[in-house]
Amino acid sequence: MTQAPARILVVDDEKLIRWSVSERLQRDGYQVLSAESGEQALEVIAATPPDVMLLDVKLPGIGGVQTLRQALGLHPELAVLMMSAHSTVDVAVEAMKHGAIDFLVKPFPLTALDAAVARALSTSRTRRQIAVLSADRRLPSALDAIVGGSVAMEQLRAMIGRLAGSDTTTVLIEGESGSGKEVVARAIHFESARREHPILQVNCAALPEHLLESELFGHERGAFTDAHTQKRGLFETADGGAVMLDEIGDLPPGGQAKLLRLLENKTFRRVGGVTELRADVRVIAATNVNVEERVSEGRFRADLFFRLNVVRLVVPPLRAHLDDVPTLAAHFIARFNQELKRQVLGVSPQAMEHLRAYRWPGNVRELRNVIERAFILHASADEIRPEHLTPELRKVAPPRPREHLVPKVEEHGLVLDDVERRLIAEAMERANGNQSKAARLLGVSRDTLRYRLKKHGMA
Ligand SMILES: Nc1ncnc2c1ncn2[C@@H]1O[C@H](COP(=O)(O)OP(=O)(O)OP(=O)(O)O)[C@@H](O)[C@H]1O
Ligand SMILES: [Mg+2]
Repeated sequence: MTQAPARILVVDDEKLIRWSVSERLQRDGYQVLSAESGEQALEVIAATPPDVMLLDVKLPGIGGVQTLRQALGLHPELAVLMMSAHSTVDVAVEAMKHGAIDFLVKPFPLTALDAAVARALSTSRTRRQIAVLSADRRLPSALDAIVGGSVAMEQLRAMIGRLAGSDTTTVLIEGESGSGKEVVARAIHFESARREHPILQVNCAALPEHLLESELFGHERGAFTDAHTQKRGLFETADGGAVMLDEIGDLPPGGQAKLLRLLENKTFRRVGGVTELRADVRVIAATNVNVEERVSEGRFRADLFFRLNVVRLVVPPLRAHLDDVPTLAAHFIARFNQELKRQVLGVSPQAMEHLRAYRWPGNVRELRNVIERAFILHASADEIRPEHLTPELRKVAPPRPREHLVPKVEEHGLVLDDVERRLIAEAMERANGNQSKAARLLGVSRDTLRYRLKKHGMA
C-alpha cells in the first residue's frame, strides 16, 4: 500500500532547531511544515492538519501547553511530541497530562528523534481509526438524528425503537459506504439503557492484525516487542457501553476467534494474558460488503456470522429512498448555515431535479459533500442552483415527465403485469436497447430483467 508521506509540524522559536529538525525529517521522507509560535502553529493546523506536531514547551506568546490544548481541540487525533530543555522537563510531563504523547529533552540525538516520530505516527494512526461516537444532545430523541420521512427511514427508526429495550442484543448493520451506518449505530446506542456509557468505534480494515487485536482486547506487558506496559483494550474502556466494529468482514481470523468467545462467554483475555476478564459490552457490527459471501468463501467464520446476525438492519442506498433527498438537503443546508454563518435559503427547483435524478454512488455522504462544496465555492449564493453542482450531477438530465408511468388505479382496476410491461418498455427505450443499462435504470439485476422480458414476450 503506498501512502502519502506523513505530515509533521515543527514548532520552535529557535530558528536553528526548526532548521535542523526539519532537515532531518525531510531527509527521512516526511513532509515538514514549521511555525515559530503557537499562534502560527494553530493557523497551520486549521488549514492543513498534520499527523504529528513537535512542539517546544517554551514559546513566546501563548506558550507550549496552551498551544497543545488548543491544537488538540482543533484536531483531536493529532499526535504531539513535546520538546523541552532540562529546566522545563516538569512542564513537558505536565503537558502529557493534557494529551501530549511523549517528550524529547534538548539537545537530543537525531536518532532519538526518528524513533519518537515513528512511535508518534503509529499512535496517530491508531487514534484516527478509533473514535468515540457522541450523541446530538440537541435532539429530543436519538432517533431524530436519522433524517427522512420515507418508508425506508420510518422502518429503520421503528426497528431501532424496538431494539431499545434489549440493550445486550448484538446487531449487524449492512449498507453501502456513506449510507448512514454510523448514524444508525449511534441511534441504537443512545436509545438504549447504555446511553450514559461510551460507544467506541473501530475500523477493522484499517489497522494491521496485531495492532487491531491489542486495541480491541488490550495487552499485557511483554506480550510483544513494543508492549512495554499493560494496556486496556476497547472492550474494557467501553465497559457498560458499546463497541461498533466497522468493516467487520475484514476482521482477521485471530480477532474473529476472540470476538466469538467474547460474544458467547462474555469473557476475553488481553493479548499475552492468562486471566479471563468479563466483558459487559454490546457489539454493533457494520459492513459494506456481503459477509455471507465471505462465509461461503471461507474467509469469515460461519459461527461468528450467526452470532453477530441476531438482528440485521439494512440501511438502504440513497437511490432507494430518493424521496428523502429534499429533506436531507434541507437538513445539511441548515447545518452548514449554522456552521459557516450563512443564510442559504434552499435548493432551486431545477437543481433539485438534478439531485433527484442522480444515482448517488456515495450515498448520503456524497449529498452532504455536494451541499458543502456549493457552500464553500459559491459563498455569495443564497440558493443552490444547477451551476453550483458538480459536473457529474449536472450531466444527469432531469427525467422526462413520466405521469403515464405512474398510472392511477382506475375503476376497472389496474393490472400490475401491464404496469410492469410498460416500465420495462420505457427503460429499454431509454437505454437504447442495452439490457444492462435498462436493468440498472429499473434497479434490478440483468438476469431479472431478462426473465421479465421473456415473461412478457418482449425478448
Ligand atoms: N438518514 C440520515 N440522516 C441524517 N444524516 C445522515 C443520514 N444518513 C447518513 N447521514 C450522514 O451522511 C454521512 C455518512 O453517513 P455515515 O458515516 O453514517 O455512513 P456509513 O454508512 O457509516 O459510511 P462508511 O461505510 O463509509 O463508514 C454522515 O455525515 C451522516 O451524518
Ligand atoms: Mg461508517
